[in-house]
Amino acid sequence: MCGIVGYVGDRRAAPLLLERLRRLEYRGYDSAGICTIAEGGFHAVRRKGRIREIACAESLPGTVGIAHTRWATHGAPCEKNAHPHLCGKFALVHNGIVENDGALRASLLRQGAELKSQTDSELIVQMLDREYDGDPMQTLVRVLRRVEGSYALGVLCLDCPGVLFAARRKSPLLVGVGEGECLLASDLPALASEGMQAYVLEDGELAALRADGAEFYGADGKRIQKKPHCTVPREEIPSKGRYPHYMCKEMAEIPLAIRQSLCDLRQDHTFNDVCEVLCQTDYVEIVACGTAYHAGLAAKYAFERLAGIRTDVYLAGEYRDGLPDCTGGECLTIALSQSGETADTIAAASLAKQRGKTLLCITNAPYSTLSSMGDRALVTRAGREIAVAATKSYQAQLAVLYALSLGAARARGRNVDKEYAALERLPDDCRILLSRLGRIGGWAERFRGARSVYFIGKGADHAAAVEGSLKLKELSYIPSEGYAAGELKHGTLSLVDQRTPVVAILTQRQLAARLMNAVSEVASRGARVFLVTSFPEFCARREVISSVVLPETSPLFTPALSVIPLQALAYETALALGNDPDKPRNLAKSVTVE
Ligand code: M6R
Repeated sequence: MCGIVGYVGDRRAAPLLLERLRRLEYRGYDSAGICTIAEGGFHAVRRKGRIREIACAESLPGTVGIAHTRWATHGAPCEKNAHPHLCGKFALVHNGIVENDGALRASLLRQGAELKSQTDSELIVQMLDREYDGDPMQTLVRVLRRVEGSYALGVLCLDCPGVLFAARRKSPLLVGVGEGECLLASDLPALASEGMQAYVLEDGELAALRADGAEFYGADGKRIQKKPHCTVPREEIPSKGRYPHYMCKEMAEIPLAIRQSLCDLRQDHTFNDVCEVLCQTDYVEIVACGTAYHAGLAAKYAFERLAGIRTDVYLAGEYRDGLPDCTGGECLTIALSQSGETADTIAAASLAKQRGKTLLCITNAPYSTLSSMGDRALVTRAGREIAVAATKSYQAQLAVLYALSLGAARARGRNVDKEYAALERLPDDCRILLSRLGRIGGWAERFRGARSVYFIGKGADHAAAVEGSLKLKELSYIPSEGYAAGELKHGTLSLVDQRTPVVAILTQRQLAARLMNAVSEVASRGARVFLVTSFPEFCARREVISSVVLPETSPLFTPALSVIPLQALAYETALALGNDPDKPRNLAKSVTVE
């Protein structure tokens, strides 16, 4: 996480860095800082809080600089821990985690170093200053040999005031080379300038950026030649349009996200290839985190029921730690990630490759690390998602996974015409549902004082329940759990009382009786029950305080719909509590540390 930008050229660095840094605020926003070089010295501003807190830095002098927006890993979010870190002739911004922090810190302290922060990042700048031999690039190479873990670095040295040094290992970092200027950034949107060529630094690579171009180096410090990855696409400046927050704008874009994703697949020959692969596949495993993991849980039912392919879904961060390797038969691993930069998902994907699995990466970011790792890559076309809470990307991921399960089913000779038609109708169903969410504001008023909340469902509805719960936790900070409805009575029911709202999700006809048993059980303990259902007849049940009825679709695709009121509930509850729904506390959009 954390966002890095750097600039060297003939323009004033500070205003440009601040503007580019704002485009990376989704990566972290607990503190921010900037440092330029001018008149033989560093000029730095660092503050706790969001990038707006360093707006005063706009007047800093110089045409070379680095800037950072932080998501704290080592050390609390406060001014002294904010980047850039300075030591002697060096200034540095870092994204990543120094895993041998303890050993390096002890060694520096033994040598008498005076550490000013609690961060692991400061250790690198301290080592640079101590080991400096007059050649900043070779010093950086030597120092980084002793650093374990991940880093994307931007480094300034007072002895080379026209150079910006960069290095990368396991944290994304791009170099942009334009006319008379170079930029460094964690992500493509921060590079966007007319005609700029983007270079992706690979693990172990370093770079020296000057106004007239960039030189690249391998981990051994020797020059290497690199080809540009792409011409930076023109950046659409993100805007909330007529919406008060990105989150509600992005929810309104759900129908479009599904439509565009499906439309793209029709024109993408990789899609047909993957369906052929799936036809020969005995086993699918999906690795993902957070909301993407929940999309995987929901899609499991479609892969198993429609295509008859056994599917397991793994939290990417747990995948490598002792989970059994599938044996026998052909396996397709699907790594699913909106950003394509989630470190846990990348690590799981590379392990799957090492284990000899065929790897399909599905991301919403065609230039991301993950999208270039797979044997095959597909993209969701959700468009840029800015709010930290994933909304439209969830439905876009489901659309692609549902389409794959249908493609696999057809390739296996199954008749899935009815489900195909349902998938085509899904964007319209979402649009209709979005127009029916008026009462959710009233629900939020009742949720704002809750001690804890349960979301219950069975089968695919359980997958929707866990996503609804994640949204509420993330935005309202109210403890909540997504639970398999029948499991409550095995212990958790003891937590339910009149201060525990319960959201029940019911879209699976064959499971209705058992789901409603669980509803009666919680209502008998005083819980107020809110129902999200495909079946209007259950809304009149006396246990149900309020309900939302979903448009009719295939029972396998209902999570794409049932999650929408739950997203809206989280949004409205956040507003009712005075929280910022776009930037919840302690979080970041892109989680690039393991
Ligand atoms: O970019 P990814 O899809 O890999 O991100 C995975 C999770 O970090 C992400 O879905 C997270 O759970 C969302 N903020 C939840 O709203």
